[in-house]
Amino acid sequence: MNVEFILKQRLICVAVIEKPEDSVPLAEALVAGGLNCIEVTFRTAAAAECIGRIRKIVPQITVGAGTLLSADNVKRAVDAGAQFGVSPGLSEAVSQAARQIHLPLFPGVVTSTEVMRAMEWGWTLLKFFPAETSGGVNALKALAGPFGHTGVKFIPTGGITAATLLSYLAVPQVVAVGGSWMADRKLMAEKNWAKITALTAEAVKGIVA
Ligand code: 3PG
Repeated sequence: MNVEFILKQRLICVAVIEKPEDSVPLAEALVAGGLNCIEVTFRTAAAAECIGRIRKIVPQITVGAGTLLSADNVKRAVDAGAQFGVSPGLSEAVSQAARQIHLPLFPGVVTSTEVMRAMEWGWTLLKFFPAETSGGVNALKALAGPFGHTGVKFIPTGGITAATLLSYLAVPQVVAVGGSWMADRKLMAEKNWAKITALTAEAVKGIVA
């Protein structure tokens, strides 16, 4: 799996986009703030179209598909041009579909059992979700005990903000952090792209790649 794009910046903007016409301005706002990775969640009917538009018009940003809950989601994401996939949990159907279609996948885990299952299925870069309510940084440090030597790495997501971002990134097993605070839905509804750029620049600034 090629994860170079994530190792570079260590931050993924998780976006819930309702209107396809907001996808390109959002991606451009993130790029203007210095971020080159976005996860468009399959929580809205617009997701696939948004991925396609961003791939075509903002090629400098890497585009993933999030909230992949089924094999059909995986297929639609890849057809739209998604370059990686993210799932909130560990689903056999999602895992098999991604493997078959050669989509790099970050499946969601919280427990040791889930980490072991993900490893058995060949995944080593795992979304730790929901991070804050599942023990946050302390839980990740505890998982590093049995799994630190295995090569498994984590992308914590869920409840992370600009204020807590760096504490997560300080955990050696954390490759990157995901969060939606930059693509704030109210700011998107107001088309306040400048504020989104400012939030992104602030987040990116503190990160040591
Ligand atoms: C996700 O799907 O990864 C989460 O919804 C992102 O969590 P956040 O909105 O709390 O950042």
